[in-house]
Amino acid sequence: MKILLTGKDGQIGWELARILAPICEVIAPERAALDLSVPEQIVSAVRSVRPDLIINAAAYTNVDRAEAEPEIAMQVNAAAPGILADESRRVGALLIHYSTDYVFDGTKSTPYVEEDPPNPINAYGRSKLEGERAIQASGCRHLILRTSWVYGMRGRNFLLTILRLARELPELKVVDDQIGAPTWCRDVATATAQLAHQAVGGMAEGLYHLAAAGETSWCGFARAILRAHASETPVRSITTAEYPTPARRPANSVLSSAMIRARWNLALPQWQDSLSICLREANLAAPARR
Ligand SMILES: NC(=O)c1ccc[n+]([C@@H]2O[C@H](COP(=O)([O-])OP(=O)(O)OC[C@H]3O[C@@H](n4cnc5c(N)ncnc54)[C@H](OP(=O)(O)O)[C@@H]3O)[C@@H](O)[C@H]2O)c1
Repeated sequence: MKILLTGKDGQIGWELARILAPICEVIAPERAALDLSVPEQIVSAVRSVRPDLIINAAAYTNVDRAEAEPEIAMQVNAAAPGILADESRRVGALLIHYSTDYVFDGTKSTPYVEEDPPNPINAYGRSKLEGERAIQASGCRHLILRTSWVYGMRGRNFLLTILRLARELPELKVVDDQIGAPTWCRDVATATAQLAHQAVGGMAEGLYHLAAAGETSWCGFARAILRAHASETPVRSITTAEYPTPARRPANSVLSSAMIRARWNLALPQWQDSLSICLREANLAAPARR
């Protein structure tokens, strides 16, 4: 199977490249060679590679900065997936694309299911929703996986920010009234690789939620990170109102992954279990007690 992968240096993209390279032919261009804000580069990459599968792990992911540059976010997160979708249809490839919990407004009190109406409250969420719609409208074979609160040991993410701030500050103040599921990028990539074969065979298509099991607040996540890391830096809980950011964020963005579990018996681990493996693997976990 020949795969064209975008975003190979991102959190999920890097894990995908590592997992898929030994079992498939993976063509993963540098960002300079395949810039999603340059439509001609997208067209020419797909037409020259002629892949069986395109995995779009690249995206404009800076939620706050998107408020100041919504046009670039729209170009990368909405227009580019639309072009990838049109080109996928043209060469007969399947497109796997990632979307986000931030397509929801957060007013629901229980986990969001696929049928819930999206209503993004920030520019990033609007651009990702437009991306989903462009793919769905294209008529290409596709699999859209919405995930949430992605972290890992590379790039920009909450886990690395908390570990750094805990070294620099005497106390951390972290928002406690936004709830979601921290999801390890490795888990998303592993599940994607498992789905890829069924998907290319025409068995797995559509839009699914794929996030870690369980839920917590950003404050709960920060405390779990520092507990596992044996850091003594205290974490004080604050409200969203006490931590203003350029982008509004949903109060509840927990995704129910029940549909993907029912269809393919695929479920990501409990978020605390993956966090513990991720930290242990990076030698950042506290030594196990005897
Ligand atoms: N991060 C989260 O919390 C989160 C939550 C829900 C859903 N998602 C979705 O999951 C997917 C993967 O997210 P991630 O966290 O793995 O992303 P990431 O770590 O931010 O990586 C994104 C990658 O896209 C690349 N990229 C950005 N603009 C590009 C452009 N114009 N052309 C080509 N490449 C470009 C980046 O390149 P540079 O390294 O050069 O910037 C980076 O390698 C995205 O669709 C995202 O919306 C993420």
